[in-house]
Amino acid sequence: MADKTYYIETFGCQMNVHDSEKVRGMLAMRGYEQRASADDAQLILYNTCSIRDKAEQKVFHRLDLWKRDSKGKKIGVLGCVAQHNGESIFETAPHVDLVCGSASYNQLPQLLDRLDAGESRVTGLNLDTDETFDLPVAERDNPHSAFLTIIEGCNKNCSYCVVPFTRGPERSRSSASVMEEAARISAGGIADITLLGQTVNSYRDPSAGWSFAKLLAAIGELDGVRRVRFTTSHPQDFTRDIVEAIESNERLCDWIHLPVQSGSSRLLASMRRTYSRDQYLRVIEMIKAANRQIALSTDIIVGFPGETQQDFEETLSLLQEVEYASLFAFKYSPRKGTDSMDYADHVPEEEKKERLAILQGLQQRIQRKLNERRVGLVEDALVEGYREKFQQWIGRTTQNRVLNFADPEGIAADEELRGAYCNVRVTKAGPNGLIGELVSVEYRPRAARSSPALHVLQ
Ligand code: 5AD
Ligand code: SF4
Repeated sequence: MADKTYYIETFGCQMNVHDSEKVRGMLAMRGYEQRASADDAQLILYNTCSIRDKAEQKVFHRLDLWKRDSKGKKIGVLGCVAQHNGESIFETAPHVDLVCGSASYNQLPQLLDRLDAGESRVTGLNLDTDETFDLPVAERDNPHSAFLTIIEGCNKNCSYCVVPFTRGPERSRSSASVMEEAARISAGGIADITLLGQTVNSYRDPSAGWSFAKLLAAIGELDGVRRVRFTTSHPQDFTRDIVEAIESNERLCDWIHLPVQSGSSRLLASMRRTYSRDQYLRVIEMIKAANRQIALSTDIIVGFPGETQQDFEETLSLLQEVEYASLFAFKYSPRKGTDSMDYADHVPEEEKKERLAILQGLQQRIQRKLNERRVGLVEDALVEGYREKFQQWIGRTTQNRVLNFADPEGIAADEELRGAYCNVRVTKAGPNGLIGELVSVEYRPRAARSSPALHVLQ
C-alpha cells in the first residue's frame, strides 16, 4: 500500500483495548500513520468483540457502512468476531479484505504484505500460533496507566462463553518477559499497571514456575510503580497467597474483580463455573478477612437458560450478602458454538429485561450505602482526566471508585494534575461514585514534570 494510513476502532473488553495498542505498535514500526477518522485512512481495522450478540451486531453494522463503496480502502476485521466467524465474514461482508484473530497478530505484517501484493481475502485464523505476547512495543493510549498481558486464552470452558473459541487455550507468558515489560513501563514513567488475562489469576510461569501471587508481588516491588491491579480473576484459582501479597504491599490495589455469574449453585453447575455458591462465598470471606479493606466487583448473567425466579432470588441475596462496590450485569445471550445454546427453557427476553432492572436497582442501593461510608475520609486518587463542565478532576481510588474533585482552595494552582496521585477529602457520595476536594498533591508523574505539553498528548 503506497498510502500507509490506518484507522482502528476497538470494541469490547480491556484485553481488546490492549490488543489494539499492540497492533498500533506493530503498524507504527512498519511506517503506518494513524488517522482519527476512517474517511482519512487507507486501511480500516475493526478490533471486534463477540461476547454477546449485540457486540457482534455492532461490528457488522460498521462493516455495512462500507458495503456500497469502500473507496479503494482495505478493510480488516480483527479480534473475536474474526476468530469466531472466520471466512464466513467474506460471505456476509464481501468487501472485507482481511480477517485475523488475536492469536495471529504476530503474523499481521505478512498478512498486510500479501494484501499489498494484490491478494484478497487474507486470513490469520490459526489458534496454535506462538504468542502475541512478544509483539514489538505496544503504543499505549494512556501516558499514566498501562495494561500488561500476562496470560492469554481460557481453559475454563463455561457453557455460555465464546472466549475459549475466540482466544484459544490458556497460555501464560514467562515471568521474565512480564518482568521485563513491567520494568520498561515503570522506567518510562508509568506508575499504574493493570495485569490482564481472561483468567488472570490462573497464571503459572511456564519456565520458572512462578505463581500469580509471586508475579504480583514482584511487580509491586519495582521502582516507580505505585499501583498494580489485575483483571479478570476466576474464583476457582483465587488462592490465599494473592490476598497475602495484597496485604503485604500497599501498591497492590484494594480491589478485586471476581465474577460470580449467578448466586444459584444449580445454575453455576449448568454454567460449568466449577464452584458452588458456598465455595464462592468462602473465597469472599477470605478476601474480607484481609488486613486491608478490599473492594469487590463482579459480573452477573441474568436469564441463563433454566433460571427460575428462585435462582434469580438467590443471585439477589448473594448481592446483599457480598455487597459489591460495583457490578456488570448482562442479559444472557445465546452464542453460536456454545453448549448452553442448546439448553432447554430459554428465558423470555421480557423476563430477562425485568430481572436485569431489578438486579441493577438493588445494586444501586448497595453502592450508595457503601459509597456513603467513604464521606469524610481522605482517599488517594489517581487523576485520570478533567471535567471542564464541572471544573472537576476525575480521580480513581485504590478501591477502583470514581472520585471526582474540585480544588476550591487553589492548592494545585491550575497545575496539570493528570497522572498525579492526590489526597482528596470525600464530601459527597452517590450510587456511582464520590465527590471530593483536593487536600494535597502526593505525587506528580515524571512524564508530566518533564513535558509541559502533556495535555496535548491526551
Ligand atoms: N451472555 C451474556 N453474558 C455473557 N458473558 C459471557 N458470555 C456471555 C453470554 N453468552 C459475560 C460474563 C463474563 C463477561 C465478560 O461477559 O458475565 O464474565
Ligand atoms: Fe469465558 Fe468462563 Fe473463560 Fe471467563 S472463565 S473467559 S466466562 S469460559
